[in-house]
Amino acid sequence: MQHSRFLPRFLQRLLVAAALAAGLASAVAQGGPVLERGRYLVTTILACGNCHTPKDGEGRAIAAKELAGGGIAFDIPPFAGVAANITPDKETGIGSWSDAEIKRAITHGERPAHGPLAGKPLALPMAANFFKAILPGDLDAIVAYLRSVPAVRNPLPAPVYRAPVHREAFALADQGFGERDLQDKVRRGAYLATIGHCLECHTPVDKGVLQLDAALGAGGRPFMPSFVKGLPESWKGAVSRNLTSDRERGLGAWSDAEIRRAIVQGVGRDGRRMQEPMPYAWYAGLRDDDLDAIVAYLRTLPPLPR
Ligand code: HEC
Ligand code: HEC
Repeated sequence: MQHSRFLPRFLQRLLVAAALAAGLASAVAQGGPVLERGRYLVTTILACGNCHTPKDGEGRAIAAKELAGGGIAFDIPPFAGVAANITPDKETGIGSWSDAEIKRAITHGERPAHGPLAGKPLALPMAANFFKAILPGDLDAIVAYLRSVPAVRNPLPAPVYRAPVHREAFALADQGFGERDLQDKVRRGAYLATIGHCLECHTPVDKGVLQLDAALGAGGRPFMPSFVKGLPESWKGAVSRNLTSDRERGLGAWSDAEIRRAIVQGVGRDGRRMQEPMPYAWYAGLRDDDLDAIVAYLRTLPPLPR
């Protein structure tokens, strides 16, 4: 990639996505629709790699180390640690965990009852309170995909917990999603936006508590301040935006095409290049009908002029 610095960032991201897809094509061909569904979810709307795949100096995911952990170092008041190695490596990844144990970690933020960290809850950056909404069939598919990525040996520092983990914001996951919602445009959009935890980033936090009741989707959450280490300068200072249907402050006056472009290309309504940590490169792989469903759901968010 000797010419990489001359390519626009979006093109670079597409190349990374293509490299990831090519590396996986053979595994997926062997695995059928369940594995393919898992690959689709993990590498698009769930964007697990946005935290779990290490990045190069310019913030691009390193395809050869997919999900090997350690990319982002959190150092927030209750927790210091990195996103774990979730490849099938038996010693440094999750290769020795059962399917049920992996599912419990994803949907409840709980570790298995064995190993050095037995019983210790996973820290809050791991968005289990949103992943709890993942439908059982999709959860099977996700585990199948995690088992299919190459095992990477990558020992990481142990996490440090400075305060108990309180996982309170389960309200969005508890919307009673079922398989039939996948057939309904707005409900599918709500489901995808929930498991993609869009509104975790796009809802303000007050004294450490996500304001899901008072300010759902109102944005204004600052990201990547000094306590998140190992990130490129271009990520710093990002603040999430208002996604409600308010015409002044939110997306009410945007066209569907403008919203879709923001999500998959990271380009604002005025043509501005948007900042991370929103995982545009992952969302670029979303199917058109799923993207339309997400936009249809965003249109239902009550306007909040803030
Ligand atoms: C916002 C960042 C972030 C995203 C996105 C994320 N994780 Fe995590 N994950 C973490 C962090 C940080 C930890 C370690 C927490 C700790 O040590 O307490 C973790 C831990 C885990 C663990 C436990 C592994 C272990 O050895 O302890 C599993 C399993 C896991 N994540 C799976 C996933 C999957 C699957 C996805 C996508 C559906 C995902 N994560 C998305 C940040 C993230
Ligand atoms: C990890 C946090 C994060 C996640 C997850 C996330 N976003 Fe964002 N989003 C941001 C940030 C930060 C910005 C502002 C970027 C900027 O202004 O440069 C943003 C900007 C946007 C914008 C542009 C709005 C405007 O007024 O400019 C849209 C639309 C959007 N996000 C939709 C979504 C949707 C839909 C999802 C889920 C599929 C999502 N976001 C997930 C952090 C996130």
